[in-house]
Amino acid sequence: MSEDPNTEAYGQEIAAAIEAAASLDDIARIRVAALGRNGVVTQWMRSLGTLPKDERAAAGARFNQLRAGIEEKLAAAAGRFEAAALEARLKTERVDITLPVKAEIGGRLHPISQTIAEVVAIFGEMGFHVAEGPHIEDDFYNFTALNIPPEHPARQEHDTFYLPDIAGRGERKLLRTHTSPVQIRAMLKDKAPIRIIVPGRTFRSDHDATHSPMFHQVEGLLIDETTHMGHLKGCLIDFCRAFFALDHLPVRFRASYFPFTEPSAEVDIGCSRAGGELKIGAGGEWLEILGCGMVNPKVLEYGGIDPARYQGFAFGMGIERIAMLKYGIPDLRTFYESDLRWLRHYGFLPLDIPSMVTGL
Ligand code: PHE
Repeated sequence: MSEDPNTEAYGQEIAAAIEAAASLDDIARIRVAALGRNGVVTQWMRSLGTLPKDERAAAGARFNQLRAGIEEKLAAAAGRFEAAALEARLKTERVDITLPVKAEIGGRLHPISQTIAEVVAIFGEMGFHVAEGPHIEDDFYNFTALNIPPEHPARQEHDTFYLPDIAGRGERKLLRTHTSPVQIRAMLKDKAPIRIIVPGRTFRSDHDATHSPMFHQVEGLLIDETTHMGHLKGCLIDFCRAFFALDHLPVRFRASYFPFTEPSAEVDIGCSRAGGELKIGAGGEWLEILGCGMVNPKVLEYGGIDPARYQGFAFGMGIERIAMLKYGIPDLRTFYESDLRWLRHYGFLPLDIPSMVTGL
């Protein structure tokens, strides 16, 4: 090593090498050569002790300045390469989150999902919350606790699918024939007061143009100390008018019978069938859309609720039925065919979430 290393010349040489570097690897190599453990500048620094005393300070200052200059240039160059590498990665790995939903190829919400969401939105506004129950039920919840004893003729209408008696207790589970068993489950679990809406799948051994072995219902149950038939009527009239978006839709309650309600009623909405075309809301004729009634005190007892203190109302309706009426879907079977053309026609855009504020 020379006695008086030419720091200026070396600085220029390194600056040129940095300038010519083509990659982060080149930069790393230059750093090692100049500033590494055996690098040129490091060795000069180390040799300071061998210099005459009066030269040490000046030489030390020059070496430090040289090292600082090189470090600065290396860092700047490394920064440039890193930025370029990041830029390149961002270009190849870009996900454009601003892409709009492609409605033509994207999914649609099935009318059953849409209709359930609408029903939930309407009753949600009235303070009901969603409850669910199992599809595979016990005889107790599906029938007995709903005041349908084993020999009751109402069981015939609900002829269903029974599962094998695997436990060997002489007891066969079944696919629930309606959403009403969730009434009992809610009573036993939540106690009164109750305000629930229960959308879900139900099963009956029926199959024709208007009946499917699997279909959907939505149950409603409200139990409180002062609930009466007026509340039942008010809620259901409001529901029908909101659901069909017809403020003056005629709604009629017709006396009926269900083992689990007393009194019971069926709800009809006004329509016209003039010229073979069904028009909801227009005069003269009636269309049945749901069953309801005041909860039978025997059912409250099965649910562990004191009928001397509490009373309430319940209702149940078929989702497919009200969807067919609202959206003019003529054939029940098409709901389950998974035909994309059908879904494109009758389905809903996924972001059109129904609400009472933005509309159903
Ligand atoms: N569970 C009845 C049915 O499936 C409907 C209903 C529910 C009627 C609640 C009255 C009260 O037909």
